Amino acid sequence: MEQQKTVVIGVSGGVAVYKALDVISRLRKANINVHVIMTKAATEFVTPLSFQSLSQNMVIHNMFEEPRAWEIQHISLAKKADLMLIAPATANIMGKVANGIADDMLSTTIMATKAPVMFAPAMNTNMYNNPIVQENMRKLKAYGYDFIEPASGRLACGDVGDGKLADTELIAERVISALYEPKDLKGLKVLVTAGPTISAIDPVRFITNRSTGKMGYAIAEEARDRGAEVVLVTGPSSLKPPFGVKVVPVNTNEEMLNAVLQEYDSCDIVIKSAAVADYKAKNYSEEKIKKGSGDLVLEFTRDSDILKTLGDRKKNQVLIGFAAESNEVLQNAKGKLSKKNLDYIVANDITSKDAGFASDSNKVTIISNKGEITSLDSMSKRLVGQKIFDLVLKHNND
Ligand code: CTP
Repeated sequence: MEQQKTVVIGVSGGVAVYKALDVISRLRKANINVHVIMTKAATEFVTPLSFQSLSQNMVIHNMFEEPRAWEIQHISLAKKADLMLIAPATANIMGKVANGIADDMLSTTIMATKAPVMFAPAMNTNMYNNPIVQENMRKLKAYGYDFIEPASGRLACGDVGDGKLADTELIAERVISALYEPKDLKGLKVLVTAGPTISAIDPVRFITNRSTGKMGYAIAEEARDRGAEVVLVTGPSSLKPPFGVKVVPVNTNEEMLNAVLQEYDSCDIVIKSAAVADYKAKNYSEEKIKKGSGDLVLEFTRDSDILKTLGDRKKNQVLIGFAAESNEVLQNAKGKLSKKNLDYIVANDITSKDAGFASDSNKVTIISNKGEITSLDSMSKRLVGQKIFDLVLKHNND
């Protein structure tokens, strides 16, 4: 079993202090040991007792409190931490660290730790946009501190704008991924396509397919967490755009083709999980088609095979396609592998109940251009992404 990790959470004062409790509870559920340091201002918003109950560790909020152990507290926590998270991070704590001021428990611990430090800022939008605060953040980034950027929205003071603490689920996800993921894709650029494409018939109607984008988004997140530079070209999807990924939204086959070609030459690994429409309406009607008394017959014309275009232009990229099949799964997938000049094809049987569109899990078989076949059990789409990269890296290192 993996050794338990320790995260030291610095809580600085602001209305968002209560949200740090949710981050702690998520980290505890992931079996992470959590220690909390609160600034004096933070204790005015929520009592240390709440943090103590959730973290199940003593909360430090007074530097001059009688030491409970022989070690000097801030040094001991600074050493213990596998990662430090400052959430919420006020302008004050960031200003102090950026300018070398260490005058309380939190600022001294941040200065004394060698562990990675992440700031999740939260404050009033005008304060956040203040050039001094922006300059301090720029400085911290240049020193190697990491940031979980705030969201935009309605703030406690009633203003609307940047400065809202990032989603707590996302903060916890970022921490967990920083602690556990191997960074074996660092230095590589990964292009992923996801979701459906659509073809408009008239101003109000279009055809599309049942793809939700779940598979491609999971692959993009996996690549990001393993250190890759990631571009996600996505058809319409209701999923949240993943943080730390360049997201290029597209609608049609043609838009997807253009977006992909823009990035293709500089990519190392390209994974086409999008369900691209093979046909588009032959005659797009500028006006809404009116109903008549009889049947309606629409004509469709062939659209580009994006993956085949990429296969034809392949240089050093590892090119991976998906094959959505309802019969003769392996045979059809192998046909696509060679026809589109791929390195791997991930075949899935879309009729299987724990696989395919909209499902959170997938059951796939990965076939390499050397004929190697890897059949996987049903697993989460994220895990499928993990297996794909494991395989690609293993072969690259062979
Ligand atoms: N693909 C593509 N462009 C298309 C159709 C498919 O780039 N016009 C890509 C998909 O992203 C996927 C792979 O090709 O990676 C296979 O897609 P799939 O829909 O299974 O196969 P098709 O080639 O469209 O063949 P068919 O629909 O006849 O099974």
